[in-house]
Amino acid sequence: MDKIIIHGGRKLNGTIRISGSKNAALPILAASLLTDEVCEADNVPDLADIGTTVALLEFIGKKVERRPNKVIISPDKQRLSDTAPYDLVRKMRASVLVMGPLLARLGHVKVSLPGGCAIGARPIDIHLDGFSKMGAEIELSGGYVEVKAKELSGARIVFRYPSVGATENLLLASVLAKGPTIIENAAREPEIIDLADVLNKMGAKITGAGQSTIHIHGVDKLGGFKHEVIPDRIETATYLIAAAVTKGSVKLLHTNSSFIKAIVRKLVSAGLKITEGPDYISAKWTKNLKPQNIRTAVYPDFPTDVQAQWMALMALVPGSSYIEETVFENRFLHVGELQRLGADLRIRGSRVIINGVKRLSGAPIMVSDLRAGAALIIAGLAAGGKTEVLRVYHLDRGYEKLEQKLRKLGARVRRISY
Ligand code: UD1
Repeated sequence: MDKIIIHGGRKLNGTIRISGSKNAALPILAASLLTDEVCEADNVPDLADIGTTVALLEFIGKKVERRPNKVIISPDKQRLSDTAPYDLVRKMRASVLVMGPLLARLGHVKVSLPGGCAIGARPIDIHLDGFSKMGAEIELSGGYVEVKAKELSGARIVFRYPSVGATENLLLASVLAKGPTIIENAAREPEIIDLADVLNKMGAKITGAGQSTIHIHGVDKLGGFKHEVIPDRIETATYLIAAAVTKGSVKLLHTNSSFIKAIVRKLVSAGLKITEGPDYISAKWTKNLKPQNIRTAVYPDFPTDVQAQWMALMALVPGSSYIEETVFENRFLHVGELQRLGADLRIRGSRVIINGVKRLSGAPIMVSDLRAGAALIIAGLAAGGKTEVLRVYHLDRGYEKLEQKLRKLGARVRRISY
């Protein structure tokens, strides 16, 4: 087990490079299952979740070569396996993204049910309803879901909620289906556009990705791809907030600030000075910040994946504010840990009422999930004294070179194994 020790109270100052998006890379790697040709993804972050995806692709029958920030996938076994086992799905829910491509290619797939996780129940009913609209039969038994379809037929699919994962899974299935598919109430996240770009490079016919209605015209066969994954918008937002909370000044390179407009708006309203360029964004603290309320929602609104980090910031902005979480039902596990550092927070249903305090003080705290972990690191950077962050394996799922990047910005941070 590793823990991260932070000696807080230092302003973050300097320039770092933002990594490729984890959430864009995962479905793009799954897209390689749609072809026997070579697929090459660049700007892939070196993260535990990428390792899990690579292990899953290898299990299914691909040969995967990993170079620094690059993944090259080619055929290995004669036949692809149709199963995603419990051991891999349990480590990462996004493993369910192999359902779409395997169903499309093999007509049969069996995936361990992911079950809930710390931040909520997270069912996959929207994915399964979509597959069944395309003619698939679904069976649940022994903790596995089995989906079968001799031939997938294009269909009109109306999502009850714009699920990111379901939109990706249905895109991955429908590109090889017979005839046209329309997905209505689709998710509009930049990661969806990136996946559609890759699929179109492979020969798919997708229009409308990034909008609520996506049209897909099924084709018979797909080829390989070469693609550079988009920058990680959640990592970008995390470092902007870390600069704000430590009253510092950071420049983030190789990113795209148009992906985080809702967050930039809130940071500017709070009083942070933001400068944006074509592939960078800078944040500079110049005056005391003002509290801002937020409500998480699907893209392009304020992302749930930045809710916890925002809470760490508002915990130190004098005055009262609230955060409303509408995407996940149980995403306030960081509240108790932030309180241990001295934050004044009260949970009221789906809201947290924040009374900004003047200072936080370091303490041992424990990470419950990836973004909660980011919030605790941010709070530790601002807190006086020493903060020990335990269970940092959650952070290794989503933040590439976390301590190196923070140290480059001047933070006193180190990791120790115990
Ligand atoms: C993706 C992101 C995750 C982010 C989330 C919301 C990846 C790998 N993960 O997760 O970081 O927090 O989007 O922006 O890209 N739901 C159902 N039934 C379904 C599917 C989802 O009820 O079939 C519910 C979920 O329980 C949740 C909400 O819909 O409450 C959003 O889930 P979804 O958009 O599917 O998130 P993920 O794709 O799992």
